[in-house]
Amino acid sequence: MTNLNYPNFPVSRLRRLRKTSVLRNMFRETVLSKNDFIYPLFIVEGTKFKKEISSMPGQFQMSIDNVLRECEELQKLGIFSILLFGIPAAKDEIGSGAYDKNGIVQKALREIKKEFPEMLVISDVCLCEYTSHGHCGVIENDSVQNDETLKLLAKEALSHAENGADIIAPSDMMDGRVGAIRKVLDENNFSETPIMAYSAKFASAFYGPFREAAESAPQFGDRKSYQMDSGNSDEAIKEIALDIQEGADIVMVKPALSYLDLIRRAKDNFNIPLAAYNVSGEYSMIKAAAEKNWIDGEKVMMEVLTSIKRAGADVIITYFAKEAAKLI
Ligand code: PBG
Repeated sequence: MTNLNYPNFPVSRLRRLRKTSVLRNMFRETVLSKNDFIYPLFIVEGTKFKKEISSMPGQFQMSIDNVLRECEELQKLGIFSILLFGIPAAKDEIGSGAYDKNGIVQKALREIKKEFPEMLVISDVCLCEYTSHGHCGVIENDSVQNDETLKLLAKEALSHAENGADIIAPSDMMDGRVGAIRKVLDENNFSETPIMAYSAKFASAFYGPFREAAESAPQFGDRKSYQMDSGNSDEAIKEIALDIQEGADIVMVKPALSYLDLIRRAKDNFNIPLAAYNVSGEYSMIKAAAEKNWIDGEKVMMEVLTSIKRAGADVIITYFAKEAAKLI
């Protein structure tokens, strides 16, 4: 598209269209909308519980009653899409709470969909919040077993769908999970339930604050045998291609900011809706610097969200959703 025949200065003066805010607004290429945002929620057992996550100012662990009040507030702000993370009362080796009919996410799904049927409720499918060892799969001989884990992820996904999840979002990074989940959903009358796959998910230090929020830090080792290495770009394209082949409806790049190149590469390579996860550490850094008055937090937030959309994301999962909605 590059036109090499642009006239040179002084005929060409790009500042002409930057002169007033009307001009700037008219020719802005990337405009954020409330429809772009998905807001993550951390749900715990109990009632009347609401505790701020110390490393994520403004974000809370909440019991279901408070999650319902939160949904009301979100809808008033114009946000109609949420992503649920469950923190169970008890954990075990095989993450039983993840696929329990009375698990925390299952209960939350039923109550949210009953009170707010029009809310788009996406459920994160993973085992790390539910396993005593904090890994995203079943452990044998100190290593995460891929194929054994697929069975549990399929059970978890089906259980979420049965309890009202509108979109299933597997974040575990096992090979073949999208196919396994698509199969179980199709066999059980959920052929219309979309899958949003965390396709290119990197083993990132930016997840630190989330692990406090979701109480999901691995108890030994790290996630590098299943999440991607941050130096890899071609492999990310391969991951995305495989997830599309296995039936993903929406693919995701995560984190967002250190991986904007991959958001663009994915957008250019595949004609499929693309999500980006503006993760916990990306949120906390801005909050911390703003608290110290080192940056203008609101302006940096809007700039960052715009950059993710400009890179090519169709939707952005972000803890900033509410604050940004107030400025749009
Ligand atoms: C679960 C999961 C994680 C995040 C989303 N789903 C953490 C991890 O993989 O350790 C991170 C989100 C964030 O940092 O905001 N596997």
